[in-house]
Amino acid sequence: MNILLLCGGGGAEHDISLLSAQYFEACLAQRDDVNLLYLTLNAQGEYHTKAGQKCELTNRREIRFEDDTPAWQVDYVIPCIHGYPGETGDIQSYFNLINLPYFGCESEASSNCFNKITAKMWFSALDIPNTPYLFVNQLDEESIKRCEAAFDKWGSLFVKAASQGSSVGCFKVDQRDEIGNILAQAFRYSPYVIVEKTIRARELEVAVYQYQGEVIATKPGEIICADNTFYSFEEKYADNSHATTQVEATNLSDEQISQIQEYAVRAFKGLKLRHLSRIDFFLSDEGEILLNEINTFPGLTKISMFPKMLAHHGEDFTQYLMDNIKRQLT
Ligand code: DAL
Ligand code: MG
Repeated sequence: MNILLLCGGGGAEHDISLLSAQYFEACLAQRDDVNLLYLTLNAQGEYHTKAGQKCELTNRREIRFEDDTPAWQVDYVIPCIHGYPGETGDIQSYFNLINLPYFGCESEASSNCFNKITAKMWFSALDIPNTPYLFVNQLDEESIKRCEAAFDKWGSLFVKAASQGSSVGCFKVDQRDEIGNILAQAFRYSPYVIVEKTIRARELEVAVYQYQGEVIATKPGEIICADNTFYSFEEKYADNSHATTQVEATNLSDEQISQIQEYAVRAFKGLKLRHLSRIDFFLSDEGEILLNEINTFPGLTKISMFPKMLAHHGEDFTQYLMDNIKRQLT
């Protein structure tokens, strides 16, 4: 079976995707039944081999090289791309168009989760508690006034570009008079902005995955941030990060664990996700469990939670991956 492992992409998470792809590479390297072709996609939509050779994915599901290297037929693709155009659902639309089966969530489900506004609408429609919010679609006096009123009611706020991952375009607002400036910054990253109440909370994450046809949620892991920091892009990947992670959170009651898992599975099934997702929750100081966000192609780097939680749950990643690929191709 010829599997194309596609990574990179045009967003801020390009380099993280390369690290995640190493995980798939390592898992599939030993398989006799898999020929793996590793390609990166750049912001201009160009494909390159590791050696820098340019190529194209044609609508006949083959990779054509610029030189006289023979074309490579693709049976399956793993779009290991965080953010645009992977988690946004764009590249999956192209795979649908050319009838190329792929790993992970489908196009529409990806885009519903990636955009923080449609995601919120879905969480509420599925009756899953989430943080209080307001939507902002333009930068004007009226929007600033609405945000100021929210600030007065909720205290500090998070202003988030609606369509970015890895906390890109996310800003914490601690001073009321910063709101206009911060909204302007967020609008540089997305045409829609969401403003949320800052929740004093523990940050819990669940790996949800399909195996042998079942949807399974692991127990929650936890991200522990130093006071006054949030899990920003830098905190996520810096060597000197102030955040630590726990593959299984402690000090949760059995009821809390089951409730989180139930919400996670409800979200996965309700949004029609496929194969994998990391679903992130808050446990507020008041004891409320709130769905924060869904990552339809979570990081698989050395420090990422998804692969650690799966392993901790007793799952072998390669078996899980091959089970899903084979089910799809038969
Ligand atoms: N967006 C990053 C890769 C994550 O959620 O893990
Ligand atoms: Mg994310």
